[in-house]
Amino acid sequence: MSFFNARRAVFTALAAAAGFSVTPAALADTTTSTYSDAAALGKLIFFDRSLSASGKMSCATCHSPSHAYGPPNGLAAQLGGADMKTQGTRAVPSLRYVLNRTPIWSHPQAASLSERLTETDNAPMGGFGWDGRFNSLHDQATFPLFNPNEMANRDPADVLAKLQRTPYAARFRQVFGDTIFVDPRKAFAQAMYAVERYQLEDPAFHPYNSKFDYYLDGKVKLTAQEMRGKQLFDDPARGNCASCHIDQPGVNGAHPLFTDYTFEALGVPRNRELKANADPRYYDMGLCGPLRTDQSAEKANCGLFKTPSLRNTATRRVFFHNGRFHTLKDALRFYVQRDTDPAKWYSKGAHHKVVKFDDLPVDYRVNVDTIDEPLTRKQGEQPAWSEQEIDDVAAFLATLNDDYPDPTRVAYAKGKGLVKTAWHAGGR
Ligand code: HEC
Ligand code: HEC
Repeated sequence: MSFFNARRAVFTALAAAAGFSVTPAALADTTTSTYSDAAALGKLIFFDRSLSASGKMSCATCHSPSHAYGPPNGLAAQLGGADMKTQGTRAVPSLRYVLNRTPIWSHPQAASLSERLTETDNAPMGGFGWDGRFNSLHDQATFPLFNPNEMANRDPADVLAKLQRTPYAARFRQVFGDTIFVDPRKAFAQAMYAVERYQLEDPAFHPYNSKFDYYLDGKVKLTAQEMRGKQLFDDPARGNCASCHIDQPGVNGAHPLFTDYTFEALGVPRNRELKANADPRYYDMGLCGPLRTDQSAEKANCGLFKTPSLRNTATRRVFFHNGRFHTLKDALRFYVQRDTDPAKWYSKGAHHKVVKFDDLPVDYRVNVDTIDEPLTRKQGEQPAWSEQEIDDVAAFLATLNDDYPDPTRVAYAKGKGLVKTAWHAGGR
């Protein structure tokens, strides 16, 4: 069995064991059509800048609704804190699609690196954040509220004092009871619960209206170039991308989210744009710290980050956990040229020697994946894809952008001559 098939098999097995396709881990009842009172409050909190030390930052500042709830700009990490000048250490992920489908963190023990990569049930998976350190959205939401680089509140009391000054404080009492603010711990927990409900219930987090979704529904065809890109993305011997970024519908027909939620070390180069990296002793090692603290003893997991969904990735201007790349094509080039031309990607050390995997301490560089295609090549060999093929894959990935015009409606509008009218109106 190839690694490609092995990875798929495991994912399916794990998913089945976790009842995953039926009951996504975050919470099950996300398909209900009603929008709860808590979710409505959570939405107000999500967009409320007054809940930050600066008074200028809300969740939506970084998770911008017009950018698939990802970053509104190309900064490797956003600026926040009381002065709005303190840089974070990681790229903002998109909040689209994954929130109600991410399994809880699980970590089967691997005896060795090769076992982790070959014995397929050993891949750690799930949890929120690039390092999977939060198992629920209400836990996750507390982090940005207090993080000194982000919303920078002192403590829950600080947040609650701000919350009580908002125009929706009365509504908060209505939903959670008149005396809710009397017990600060309970009040804070309910506020976080509200944010969680919003993120799970609001359909704007999973519109399923990309060209690819319409293609899966048989409503539209992909172009020849997009199809070529898809084939390269799927081909186990060339791109092999789909082995982690799953692109097949689930057993229940669910449209794929282009992630299997597992953790991998890709050896993304060190990013000098991050101020934290000015300190040569600082390394963001994902699963084994410094932000995550409970897995640090497991050295085989140092350098591993969670596989992100690739939906809307073509709209981003910042890629990978450290925001090292700013165009999709560079991210793709990195995959296929990492090993064939390392000097193009990595810094030079002593005697001008290229330091491959320079964003990890020497001892942990062995953790980087050199087993899965296309990460197996040797220096000087031919990359898995040509520039033309990189263009093709980029074209395919762009079909994952949301808000593609609904083909059935366009056809209807065309029949009525509406498209022309609308075009003329918009064109003037
Ligand atoms: C300063 C920018 C910033 C702000 C403000 C911010 N976030 Fe984030 N968010 C991030 C970054 C960066 C990450 C990745 C964090 C990590 O891996 O440690 C993230 C991760 C997340 C995740 C995990 C997504 C996943 O797929 O694992 C969720 C959910 C989330 N944020 C929700 C929120 C909520 C809710 C708020 C407001 C209470 C918020 N964020 C405020 C930058 C921000
Ligand atoms: C072995 C699993 C695996 C395979 C195979 C794989 N990826 Fe990834 N992908 C990941 C992980 C893990 C990350 C995040 C790594 C990080 O940030 O350090 C990632 C990140 C990305 C990103 C950046 C997304 C973002 O929002 O920042 C893109 C684009 C991407 N992959 C495309 C591809 C393509 C194209 C292929 C095929 C050539 C591919 N991947 C193959 C695991 C994989």
